[in-house]
Amino acid sequence: MKKKTAVLFVCLGNICRSPTAHGVFETLVHRAGLASAIDVDSAGTGDWHIGHAPDKRTTQVALTKGYDLSHLRARLVTPADFDSYDYVVAMDRANLRDLEAMRPASFQGFLGLFLDFSTQRTLSEVPDPYYGGDAGFEQVFNLVEDASAGLLAHICQQHGLVACH
Ligand code: 4NP
Repeated sequence: MKKKTAVLFVCLGNICRSPTAHGVFETLVHRAGLASAIDVDSAGTGDWHIGHAPDKRTTQVALTKGYDLSHLRARLVTPADFDSYDYVVAMDRANLRDLEAMRPASFQGFLGLFLDFSTQRTLSEVPDPYYGGDAGFEQVFNLVEDASAGLLAHICQQHGLVACH
């Protein structure tokens, strides 16, 4: 049997941006009939919120768009994650720098910015919404939804997967 492709989304707290990406991308994977081919997870570079559910503002925006994030819990990213994931996807350049510092030399997968897969290309990073207002959470959702579609198309092309939607 062919090995699953594994995707890990990473932000700072793992309660706003990366859980949004986790929930949205996972839903797109399921809708495409690819749940048996692609695994999805998320983690944070900071340890303040380990074990916590996503931020209420994040959960609320996602729910109004039809995505349930209530099953997700925050965890810390570790160097061992590079052994388990093919795509380690950072929300911003600070996350990417932290990940590059823990990347083992043996890692052969993708390590880069999520918005590299955006089709709209309005921004290169997903802005941290934590200390801002509701508009920031709406912006995060829209950026994530667009880049999720782009990432799924990329993985399907790279790995010869056919999405059935
Ligand atoms: P996230 O947002 O990285 O998108 O989950 C943040 C959540 C919490 C904090 C910072 C950013 N914090 O400083 O606690």
